[in-house]
Amino acid sequence: MRKVALPTLLAAGIAAAAITTSSQAFAYGAGDFYTRVGVAKVEPASDNGSLNIGGADYDVNVDDEAQFAFTLGYRFHDKMGVELLAALPFKHDLQVEGVTDGSTKHLPPTVTAQYYPLGGTDARVQPYAGVGFNYTRFSDEETDIGASLELDDSWGFAGQLGVDLLIDDNWALNAAAWYIDIDADAKVGSADAGTVEIDPVVVMAGVSYRF
Ligand code: NI
Repeated sequence: MRKVALPTLLAAGIAAAAITTSSQAFAYGAGDFYTRVGVAKVEPASDNGSLNIGGADYDVNVDDEAQFAFTLGYRFHDKMGVELLAALPFKHDLQVEGVTDGSTKHLPPTVTAQYYPLGGTDARVQPYAGVGFNYTRFSDEETDIGASLELDDSWGFAGQLGVDLLIDDNWALNAAAWYIDIDADAKVGSADAGTVEIDPVVVMAGVSYRF
């Protein structure tokens, strides 16, 4: 066998394997593990509630924040899957109007059970919808007044819409949005001050990769 034949054979073998795999594996559905990676923007609700401090009410405003985020998912059925949204901590600027400018960090892990109406078909546009829940833990609350601000952990409902635009067997373009109910009981100093309603829409754009 001449030296040049080996790479040629290898290339032909890989191409043949790719064609065989693609005809078997292209169906998008049961058994797929996948990850989605992108930039997520967390846009809190426009009304974030108010806090009662020393007998007076002050409006709270939580700002948008964008961050790298990723998901891990598994399809246990052609049309059904489960996905976990994870991210680096989001740091939000937070104002208690007239009282303090501050910030808080949170991690928003969110689990959804998903429905893929076109799962198991060879459609290249694969929309999905999901429902689930979110657990948010706040940390590093900072204020520019002497009093501390503490935000309690939050458990809440999450809903999700998304779409994969399949490029090949493994890669897809992805866009997804979640609505997450995040309500955090707040303490200023050591006194209960009410609830901060964050209730964000999280919008993510990036790529999907399935294994
Ligand atoms: Ni809420």
